[in-house]
Amino acid sequence: MKFLIYFFLLATSFAFFASGKDALDWWQTTVLYQVYPRSFKDSDGNGVGDLKGITQKLDHLKDAGIGALWLSPIFTSPGVDFGYDISNYTQIDPLFGTIEDLRELKSAAEKLGLKLLLDLVPNHVSNESEWFKKSVQKIDPYTDYFVWVDPKKDENGTRQPPNNWLSDFGGSAWEWREERQQYYLHQFAVQQADLNYRNKHVVQEIKDVMRYWLDQGMDGFRVDAVTFLFEDEQLRDEPLSGDPGAEPTDQSYLKHVYTQNQPATFDMVQQWRALLDEYSSKDHSTRVMFTEAYADLDNTFKYYGTKERPGAHFTFNFFVIEYIKNTSTADDYENITSLWLKNIPAGDWPNWVVGNHDQHRVASRVGPGLVDAMNALALLMPGTAVTYNGEEIGMEDTFISWNQTVDPQGLNAGPQRYQLFSRDPERTPFQWDNTTSAGFSTSNTTWLPVNSNYKWLNLQKQQEDEDSHYKVYKQLVQLRKTKTIQRGTTHTAAVTQQVFAFVRALDGEVTYIVAMNVGNSSATVDLTRSFSGLPATATVVVASVGSTLVRGTNQTTSALTLAAKGFVALEGRT
Ligand code: NOJ
Repeated sequence: MKFLIYFFLLATSFAFFASGKDALDWWQTTVLYQVYPRSFKDSDGNGVGDLKGITQKLDHLKDAGIGALWLSPIFTSPGVDFGYDISNYTQIDPLFGTIEDLRELKSAAEKLGLKLLLDLVPNHVSNESEWFKKSVQKIDPYTDYFVWVDPKKDENGTRQPPNNWLSDFGGSAWEWREERQQYYLHQFAVQQADLNYRNKHVVQEIKDVMRYWLDQGMDGFRVDAVTFLFEDEQLRDEPLSGDPGAEPTDQSYLKHVYTQNQPATFDMVQQWRALLDEYSSKDHSTRVMFTEAYADLDNTFKYYGTKERPGAHFTFNFFVIEYIKNTSTADDYENITSLWLKNIPAGDWPNWVVGNHDQHRVASRVGPGLVDAMNALALLMPGTAVTYNGEEIGMEDTFISWNQTVDPQGLNAGPQRYQLFSRDPERTPFQWDNTTSAGFSTSNTTWLPVNSNYKWLNLQKQQEDEDSHYKVYKQLVQLRKTKTIQRGTTHTAAVTQQVFAFVRALDGEVTYIVAMNVGNSSATVDLTRSFSGLPATATVVVASVGSTLVRGTNQTTSALTLAAKGFVALEGRT
């Protein structure tokens, strides 16, 4: 508590775990690593990543200090949304391999002490699934597996969709089917039909899918697009959002009060948690659920459930991704980190996400100079850290021309606007080394092109270099093992317009001071003006690539100089 009192007056303070003497669970101290299977490692030379490829590269995860990985979908799929349009939840798509390959991956991961999570996509299935085909034909029990609605007629008697709801990928969320003379709902691509969660068979089917994979030994799920599970039963039109940048066909044109975060959704997540807990209690190894919900703060926290009826172990914290840009000031960093820390309900576990397969790469979104600082933010703030494959080496977005574009969200936007929406740039193959296709594939052509910077931006080079993003990343992961980072209090401050800093402290343990200069020029700051109780000098334990702050040297906390975009983690005792 001592530190909380010390720091309280000057910086924003959070005492998460200060009082907690309980052991932390595996998912709380770990780094969760997202593997995008199509782009991780191609073992058979067809230009697309696969399960055997992931198994071959598990050593990399171990070397980086990762403790758990989640795989974007590997199930049978026509591939319209690259696996997020599943046609059979319990079969592996031959593109990625076989169930034996998954079992091998699981057992290899287990040997290395890595947990393995799958992606559960409960909101929608492919229109090529048996469920959908039978539903179109009204074959029971599938008849009402989807959200089928009769058309409206306009004044000329012309058929119209039942309301104004829009798809996340642009355009109406309703698609007409002649056979049924009805529209079905699709909140993503036309080929991704929304399941009807008001149908008890659907609820049971998804629980059976969870059980199937848990029985195969999986450690849990990342749950896709959970906000979309239920919709307003009265099918009311959604109000306009007032977003001046949105076209009438863009999903952001409307405010999603009737299609997202409906009350029943939270209950469903709690039901899933009960199912997971059933498995966890059998062998005392926690099966986890991390939910994907791009939502406002209130709704985000609702996915955690309550103390009596817990929901997700955590729901991804997308606030840094959504609000931090290359123009952000230290105040922005302070506001967005303290927003989360201040508001997270007591007992709920924080987490930090800086990248995923739906968001531009950190190097391109925030700037190449801030790669190390952003990794430090994710890895040293209190809670679980999440890394998207490639962020540990600071991979950059790849330019993808309109002709090369394959992402449905990009394609739907058309040649003029595709770059505003396409997620292809952040999905290009992992850059392992400087050989053919960056060591990702033996094929010269890959499903998305390899970034031409792979000759100098690749893992092997960063392992060989004295100073590299990867080396910094590994040092940060090591710091996470300390009691201070795992359990310490957190104090954040915009020290100046350019320098954001946070201090992690725990009674009887070393204190860590993390400072990042997000500005464009070097800056010398007095950290003691923002944080009282700091040691006068502290030792450099990690510094960004190219920093003049040498590891092991002592720095004065009242006059710390950071290069433009530089970050440093200092260790000291008070
Ligand atoms: C969220 C996934 O992350 C994204 O890639 C996908 O397109 C949508 N959900 C639909 O499943």
